[in-house]
Amino acid sequence: MSFRALVVSEGPTGQYERHVTRRTPAELPPGDVLVRVQYSSLNYKDALSASGHHGVTRRYPHVPGIDAAGVVVESTNRQYKPGDAVMVHAAEFGANVPGGYSEYARMPAEWLLPLPDGLTSRQCMAIGTAGITAALCVRRLQEQAVQAADGEVLVTGATGGVGIFSVALLARLGYRVVASTGKPAARDLLQHLGAAEVTHRASMQDFSEKALLKGRWSGVLDTVGGASLSTAIRSMHYGGVVVCCGNVAGADLVLTVYPFILRAVRLIGVDVANCPQDQLAGLWTDFGSLWPLDQFAQFIRECTLEELDVEIDRTLHGGRIGRTVVHVAGAQ
Ligand SMILES: NC(=O)c1ccc[n+]([C@@H]2O[C@H](COP(=O)([O-])OP(=O)(O)OC[C@H]3O[C@@H](n4cnc5c(N)ncnc54)[C@H](OP(=O)(O)O)[C@@H]3O)[C@@H](O)[C@H]2O)c1
Repeated sequence: MSFRALVVSEGPTGQYERHVTRRTPAELPPGDVLVRVQYSSLNYKDALSASGHHGVTRRYPHVPGIDAAGVVVESTNRQYKPGDAVMVHAAEFGANVPGGYSEYARMPAEWLLPLPDGLTSRQCMAIGTAGITAALCVRRLQEQAVQAADGEVLVTGATGGVGIFSVALLARLGYRVVASTGKPAARDLLQHLGAAEVTHRASMQDFSEKALLKGRWSGVLDTVGGASLSTAIRSMHYGGVVVCCGNVAGADLVLTVYPFILRAVRLIGVDVANCPQDQLAGLWTDFGSLWPLDQFAQFIRECTLEELDVEIDRTLHGGRIGRTVVHVAGAQ
């Protein structure tokens, strides 16, 4: 048996190349469950992995895809049997072991989750790591007791995968959401998701050396890092909460301690890859019951393994809006 997969490898000139090639089960890693992958998705982390970013993927050739949903084909674990509908988004999957851009994937059973009630494999991949990250970030804001009545909440990178879900979930919970984006043309789309105000990302980046800026936000959900995150932290109301999960705009954070010791600002980090599975399962259940997925239809595009190359470049250049679902192999 052989099957299709998108393989990223280092070319003769040091450039990373992506090709859809045929592989065999012998090339899959060890694990007790073999899954026929129906859908995967494209996250920013996948784009990094697919372009030779050694901070994400240490060794190449490599098959990216940190999300996958499909059907169990073989299992030596009692928890899963052939025919079970499952999905995976776990620490090393697609980062340092072959991932979801492959018609077959093998992994330890503990990386798998049963497909949540009420969701198809395609819907799960439309949500994917991005949607679950947004849900976890919103949960962290709620745990810190940021209330809708406290004031405005800022979402940065609003048209990205994490961004669109963050805007929509916060708006649905009653927060007044200000969406920061580099794509002014996406204003109507973001308002449709529930943003009360859409602002250009340039106006949310302060490069001065001021330790504190005029307080505006009770909460911030930052998906981009860099100057946007530094500006947001300096622009918090007293006791405000910043949840940070991304670094698209940069990993450096230029700050003083003053927002923390004069305004009691709280900065909360989020890491989905190593979040306990039971916490993630609860977030997936919410997507199956609480959140109206129809709302996101116009933010979800679908591509094949062959079309991924272009989508990956678009993602690396920040030109994508919403989520990309990858149709890997036949699905109901
Ligand atoms: N910590 C975790 O567990 C976790 C989990 C998932 C994702 N992440 C991280 O979260 C971030 C977003 O992931 P994603 O999958 O949503 O990515 P994505 O779909 O590619 O979206 C990223 C968005 O960031 C904005 N952006 C792009 N370049 C920018 C720049 N130079 N400066 C400021 N904003 C820029 C763009 O939105 P606008 O044009 O609307 O501004 C873009 O759509 C990534 O850094 C990813 O690694 C972390």
